[in-house]
Amino acid sequence: MKKNIFEDFDGYNDILEEIEHSRKYGINYSAERHSPAQFINRLHPPVLSLIVSDIIEETSSTKTLRLIPDDGYLPPFLAGQYVALTLEIGGIRTSRPYSISSPPNQTGFYDITVRRVDGGLVSNYLLDEVKKGDHLQSSGPAGHFYYNPLFHDKSMVCIAGGSGITPFMSMVNEIADCGIDRTVFLLYGNKNSGDVIFHEKFQAISDRFENIHYIPVIEEPPDDYDGSRGLITGDLIKEKIGNVDDKTFYLCGPQGMYDFCIPELVKLGIPDKKIREEVYGAPANICDYAGWPEDIKAETVFKVSVNGGRTLDARAGEPLITALEKKGVIVPSLCRSGECSMCRIRIISGKVFQPKGVPVRKSDRQFGYVHSCVSYPLDDLAIAL
Ligand SMILES: Cc1cc2nc3c(=O)[nH]c(=O)nc-3n(C[C@H](O)[C@H](O)[C@H](O)COP(=O)(O)OP(=O)(O)OC[C@H]3O[C@@H](n4cnc5c(N)ncnc54)[C@H](O)[C@@H]3O)c2cc1C
Ligand code: FES
Repeated sequence: MKKNIFEDFDGYNDILEEIEHSRKYGINYSAERHSPAQFINRLHPPVLSLIVSDIIEETSSTKTLRLIPDDGYLPPFLAGQYVALTLEIGGIRTSRPYSISSPPNQTGFYDITVRRVDGGLVSNYLLDEVKKGDHLQSSGPAGHFYYNPLFHDKSMVCIAGGSGITPFMSMVNEIADCGIDRTVFLLYGNKNSGDVIFHEKFQAISDRFENIHYIPVIEEPPDDYDGSRGLITGDLIKEKIGNVDDKTFYLCGPQGMYDFCIPELVKLGIPDKKIREEVYGAPANICDYAGWPEDIKAETVFKVSVNGGRTLDARAGEPLITALEKKGVIVPSLCRSGECSMCRIRIISGKVFQPKGVPVRKSDRQFGYVHSCVSYPLDDLAIAL
């Protein structure tokens, strides 16, 4: 008779015994059956209950909210990751991602640092309404914008603009606190000196640690300013970091910064695989985006029928997820940038605009799924959630 090769594997008899046991007594056959799931849930909880333990004023338009766990436990994260806060504001339930600005070695709290966006729903609420002691809800830590020792150089060039500084605050503090053998060149661009977040903190760290180089760049500085001026150009990068070949580049900031800095990096000969970009939300004005149909204005309203039932209005210039949330239709979301796939919906009929480069899976494309956080109606739509 042919030998069963599986018999040679360690634990073969134990598995046979378990199968026998489960046939006899039903599926709850192992005493430890639930423990891996419990462990994994603690590492990757879907929802966190948080309390605002402190509020720190950083600039006139920016505050840090210090968040402690309601149940004494915060899951670990990698410096550069974010949490998505879920809030109900004026009857609208929505969520927004915020990078964790505290370092991962600080396990007692998460800091998030929020800058005001003119007319923004959540940033204004967080800055003006939230008080110490308030309860907030968030996702667990998520995102792919972090240092990976297998693929990235030990020398990091971090290019930040405005509130895009927050993931770098976490990375730099972790390196300094834990004595990590990595070099950072942090180029931080802002329009005015008053906009610079964490200036004194970065200055103090770079004065103390020779592997941390902090280079603020001010577009419109006062006359007596003696630091770097203008934009973060290729020439400035080269001047400050020297050799570009042994470094990985990380960018986080507004769309305009990517549009300007990435071509500058390409001119310096930096290959694509060495440029890492954090997602930073849906485009601020989709109608200016390449490929947007000229005859459709941001204010044009289309009808959206949901699950073959109710029909609601959606503006062309607004992501579908926002139109749905305004009418009380909840779609789960995390990155709000087209990256995580959490907000997928199916387009049964009608047409949507999606910015170039949104990573939709081939099977999703084939069956009509889109990311509702970066999809804009160009037609009356029928959708399925
Ligand atoms: C991964 C990730 C991490 C983030 N981390 C941070 C962070 O650490 N700190 C922080 O302050 N923000 C961060 N953001 C941005 C944040 O999620 C919100 O988008 C921002 O607070 C605006 O939300 P809002 O509800 O106030 O504005 P909304 O009501 O969503 O938007 C109002 C208007 O402003 C435009 N708009 C939206 N966001 C911006 C923007 N950033 N700049 C200019 N115009 C904008 C919109 O197109 C819209 O017209 C992050 C975003 C992502 C994707
Ligand atoms: S919320 Fe992540 S893709 Fe839409």
